[in-house]
Amino acid sequence: MPNLDERMWSDSEVEVLARAVIRAPSVHNIQPWSLALPGMRAELTERADPSASEHDPAGRDRLISCGAALENLVLAVRALGWATEVELPPGRGPLVAVVRTSGREPPSGRELHAYAAISRRRSHHRPFAAIPVSSSMLAPVIGRLPRGVGCRVLHAGEKDVLAVLLDQSAETTQSRDGIRRELAEWACGVDDGLVRPGYDKVGLPWARLVPDVRTLARRSDAESILMFCTKEDDRAGRLKTGVAMQQSWLAAVDGGLAASVLTRLLHEEPVRERMAAELKLPGRPQLIMRLGYPDDHRPF
Ligand SMILES: Cc1cc2nc3c(=O)[nH]c(=O)nc-3n(C[C@H](O)[C@H](O)[C@H](O)COP(=O)(O)O)c2cc1C
Repeated sequence: MPNLDERMWSDSEVEVLARAVIRAPSVHNIQPWSLALPGMRAELTERADPSASEHDPAGRDRLISCGAALENLVLAVRALGWATEVELPPGRGPLVAVVRTSGREPPSGRELHAYAAISRRRSHHRPFAAIPVSSSMLAPVIGRLPRGVGCRVLHAGEKDVLAVLLDQSAETTQSRDGIRRELAEWACGVDDGLVRPGYDKVGLPWARLVPDVRTLARRSDAESILMFCTKEDDRAGRLKTGVAMQQSWLAAVDGGLAASVLTRLLHEEPVRERMAAELKLPGRPQLIMRLGYPDDHRPF
């Protein structure tokens, strides 16, 4: 085998890496990253994109998205049989991660399963089936998180609290109609106990959050809500949230589950603070994930 310092990625390896990165989820599907493959390294850089600054002024979702791309990239390098070393450069520069190869190492079964799930993962915008997600199904989904990231599975009473908080924040935020439309899309047009969809004056989808205890209780068994939190609300914390989100999402898909994520309302600082306090979260909330069995037989 040639010295690693002299070797470069082959054309087919480049294709595998690029395909994996392109399949990562990103806020509004903007894919705010670029990938460079010098020598046997892979460098992930955050692209400047001023158009997204209104929705995401702190760039939080962009970094979470880059974290998801990083997880796909690492899995692809591992699937190609290379050992990896990942560096997250500190500071505010555009370079977010460098993945180095350090010799040959076959991928584990878990890594191959996660890699295979990359192409099957998508945001689930359909109803969930009325099948409870058991704790043994959830264990691999939340069992392997990067250091500094926590994940809480909300119990029924906490989902109720979450619904109230989301509803209050949607009420008070200035872009209320936009947010309600976003919630309607997120909830895939189904009254699922967390949001109740309808249509606004001009016929666009609109949603009202329903802190309705009875409805929530009816639905709570079928759907799991995961809150991802970080100790530090900094660049590394956001990147690692993206890595954690993607690890969980791929493990869920591998187990036959489906998921969708929401961050928009967490951009409101008072909402985040109340959420952390009232749900007694182990850190700053970064992302909400809904998880369940897809119900492919139910119409929209
Ligand atoms: C950081 C982040 C935040 C997101 N926020 C939302 C959201 O608030 N509402 C929503 O419906 N989808 C949200 N998404 C999902 C993206 O819209 C989705 O990943 C993207 O459109 C690509 O579609 P796919 O997941 O089916 O591949 C988010 C995704 C990421 C990575």
